[in-house]
Amino acid sequence: MSLLIEQQGPVVRVTLNRPEVRNAFNEELIAELTAWAESVRADGPARVAVLSGAGKAFCAGADLGWMSKMVAYTRDENLRDARAAAAMFEALDRLPIPLIGRVHGAALGGGAGLAAVCDIVAAADDTIFGFTEVKLGIIPAVISPYTLAKIGRSAARELFLTGARFSAERAREIGLVHAVGDAAELDRIVAKYVNDVLTSAPQAIAAAKALIAAVSTRPHADAGDLTSQAIADRRVSAEGQDGMRAFLEKRPPSWLSGGS
Ligand code: COA
Repeated sequence: MSLLIEQQGPVVRVTLNRPEVRNAFNEELIAELTAWAESVRADGPARVAVLSGAGKAFCAGADLGWMSKMVAYTRDENLRDARAAAAMFEALDRLPIPLIGRVHGAALGGGAGLAAVCDIVAAADDTIFGFTEVKLGIIPAVISPYTLAKIGRSAARELFLTGARFSAERAREIGLVHAVGDAAELDRIVAKYVNDVLTSAPQAIAAAKALIAAVSTRPHADAGDLTSQAIADRRVSAEGQDGMRAFLEKRPPSWLSGGS
């Protein structure tokens, strides 16, 4: 298996498991990650997912051995492969529960793209990032929608056009990473994020994630109706009513006390 999936109560831990090639993507890993992402349900057992890489690195991008095979591929065969990768990134980006990236070692090319589709990314301070595709004569195409949404055009113009490797601290500055710590701190940082998710209302989290996706692609002038409907829906929902009442009554809300 190229992917390890371990359910621990409400937390699902997903580990890229090709450490001998620094968890580079091949057809199998792409298919397994896509199938997992498509299987996650908002009301399933997992309330949060943590994505990490086995061994020395998070993910070294496309498997260059697999890519060298592609040199003999026709354009249509390349298109089929690229579409499979695009479907994987899209399924991960739309995951109905929060996806936390635990990034260490290296996140290069598609590996940096994988960080971009995570909702929250914690990185070890010595992680090397890079959109290194142009060094190989290719481009960071299928990851570009997600990466651009995180880092913006300015950083993308610098980093996509140079293929330069950059630090975890720089990744944090441009919005690809949210927290940086040394190797000993990384699991603590991830655990804190997991705890913050688990102590918040599950349906509200799903609605907040959907809201971000919907609002970020609309002009402000067109967003007002959608945002008003979204908050009105939440206020009258059982979960929203319970959460607000629980606060006023100084008692735990149902999602913490086991009821729902
Ligand atoms: N595809 C296939 N194999 C890869 C790979 C990739 N993207 N990245 C690393 N590997 C393999 C190496 O060939 C090496 O194989 P070997 O043990 O048979 O020699 C093994 O993984 C370990 O790599 P190594 O470079 O020795 O490990 P490292 O820990 O010193 O460095 C990286 C890790 C990720 C920084 C480095 O391997 C690297 O820069 N890889 C290329 C990344 C890249 O350009 N990706 C494509 C983006 S489009």
